[in-house]
Amino acid sequence: MQFPDTEYFSLELASPQGDGAIEPKHQACLIPQAANATPFALDAPQSIVGRGHDVDYCINDVRASRRHAKVLALHNRYYVQDLGSTNGTYLNGDRIENERLAHGDLITFGRTQFRFEIGTDLDANYLKKLTLDTVTSLAEAVDKKDPYTGSHSQSVAKISERLALALGLDQAAAERVRIAARLHDIGKIGVPDAVLRKPGPLTAAEFALIRKHPVDGASILAPLGFLADLLPAIRHHHERFDGGGYPDGLVGAAIPLASRIIQVADTYHAMASNRPYRRAQPPEFIRTELTRHAGTQFDPEVIAALLDMLSSLHAPD
Ligand SMILES: [Fe+2]
Repeated sequence: MQFPDTEYFSLELASPQGDGAIEPKHQACLIPQAANATPFALDAPQSIVGRGHDVDYCINDVRASRRHAKVLALHNRYYVQDLGSTNGTYLNGDRIENERLAHGDLITFGRTQFRFEIGTDLDANYLKKLTLDTVTSLAEAVDKKDPYTGSHSQSVAKISERLALALGLDQAAAERVRIAARLHDIGKIGVPDAVLRKPGPLTAAEFALIRKHPVDGASILAPLGFLADLLPAIRHHHERFDGGGYPDGLVGAAIPLASRIIQVADTYHAMASNRPYRRAQPPEFIRTELTRHAGTQFDPEVIAALLDMLSSLHAPD
């Protein structure tokens, strides 16, 4: 098989404990089949596995001086690739060149046979990732409903993550803000295109439909337990700092910080983007507008963080 030239996933693997037990966080390991053998974890020499086939998991035959094969981790699937040794690489007894590995496979590198095992964590993480990819696709589909905004949510997500870090959140928390921002408008899937794309002023009934999207978005994502911490951020992304927003009229710090960040990133990106009816606004105009609404519509601290990074933000198209 040909390995596509694509990005490898990060794998969180660790060395086995001294007693031979496999740590629960192991996602994959090779267990030598000799008596009293200890598991050989697929250790990640670097936490992010980069592009190219030179940075992956190279397995040495413990009794041979040269490498016989390497195990590649690609998209959370594992492959074994023969490196052309004279002894060959065997998978379940058959000499192989490149093959996909499955849980329980017996692989022979040189003279050592291993059993390949995938930990349950991998499956859980893989499923979470798949699920997140699926809802992200849905969010993208919502973006596309409005031809004027294109990949708006993606840009808002990037800016939101930067704001979160600038406001002192750690990387993990900033990552949650980024995901919330990516999905924040997913509830618009329930708003008819005719309303979303309406160029003129909305009627009261149409506006009521639009106003439902934060609550609908949180409801859509509610069954996904691993996103539970993001639901308040999504529900409240149209609150105003002075309490004049919706759906609950929350005030100030009662509004989740992630929501306050998303609002600012969202507004900035809308102003800084070209629209059919106007060009992107210049930075000085944006600075004036955001400053004018700090403390009423927006959290002044978030505005200050955005203004600090204004010159370094790429002008969106
Ligand atoms: Fe929204």
